[in-house]
Amino acid sequence: MEFQDVMAQRHSVRAFTDQPVSDALLNELLARASGAPSWSNTQPYQIAVARGEVLESLRRELPERFDQLMALQRAPMVKKLKALVTKKGMPDGDYRPVVKYPDDLQPRRVATGHGLYQLLGIGREDKQARHEQMAANFRFFDAPVALFVFVHEGLGVYSALDAGIFLQSLMLAATDEGLGTCAQGALALWRSPLEKHFQLPGQYKLLCGLSLGYEAQETINQFRPDRQPLDSLLIAEK
Ligand SMILES: Cc1cc2nc3c(=O)[nH]c(=O)nc-3n(C[C@H](O)[C@H](O)[C@H](O)COP(=O)(O)O)c2cc1C
Repeated sequence: MEFQDVMAQRHSVRAFTDQPVSDALLNELLARASGAPSWSNTQPYQIAVARGEVLESLRRELPERFDQLMALQRAPMVKKLKALVTKKGMPDGDYRPVVKYPDDLQPRRVATGHGLYQLLGIGREDKQARHEQMAANFRFFDAPVALFVFVHEGLGVYSALDAGIFLQSLMLAATDEGLGTCAQGALALWRSPLEKHFQLPGQYKLLCGLSLGYEAQETINQFRPDRQPLDSLLIAEK
C-alpha cells in the first residue's frame, strides 16, 4: 500500500473476524515495528503476546473482573470503602486509570464517546448497552491476538513515549498487511491476570493493550471520530 493510504486507513477496529493471524505474520509485524526510534535506542518496552489458550483464559477472566468492578461502583458506600481497604475487586494495574479528564480535554472525550454510541444506536440512558460495549474491550473485541505493552519504569514518561511510537509503527504495519488493530488503555486495568501466564519483569509496568486481527464488516468499524483543527493543534506565537 502507498504510505498515505496506510495512514488514512488505520483506524480503531472494535470487531474482528475469527480468522487467525499466523505466527510468521505476527513476528513480521513485530520485527517491522522494532524499527521504531527510541530514547538513546534503549527500546524501553516489552510485549506480552496472548493467543490461543492464554488469550481464551484472559477472555474469561477480564470480563468477570470488569463486571465485578462495575457492580462495586453501584454498591453501597460501605462496600465501596471496604473494597478500597481490601483492594478486592479493584483494578491492580501499574498505573492509575484516568477517572476525571481535564476540563479542556473532556469535550473531545465526550464527543468521541457520543459519536460511537450514536453510530451504534445506543441511547444516553441505555446503561446496559453501554456496559456491554465497554465490556467488549475485555474480550479483545473477539480478536485472535492481544498484545500487552509494558514500559520500563526507570525512564518515566519517556518509556511511554517510545512505546507509543512502537505501537503506532505496529498499527501501521498491521494496516499495510490488511489487518486491524485497536490500542486499548482499558487493558491496563489489571496486571495480576497476566502474571499467571507471563514471566513479567518487575521493572516493566503495564501501559496498555492492543487487539489485533482481521476486521469484521460491522457498523462499529465505520466509526471515524473527528480530529481537532490545525489552529487548535498549533500553539500561537506571542
Ligand atoms: C493509548 C490509547 C488507548 C486507547 N484505549 C482504548 C480503549 O480502551 N478502548 C477503545 O475502544 N479504544 C481505545 N483507544 C482508541 C481511541 O479511542 C481511538 O484511537 C480514537 O478514538 C481515534 O480513533 P481512531 O483510532 O479510529 O482514529 C485507545 C487509543 C490509544 C492511542
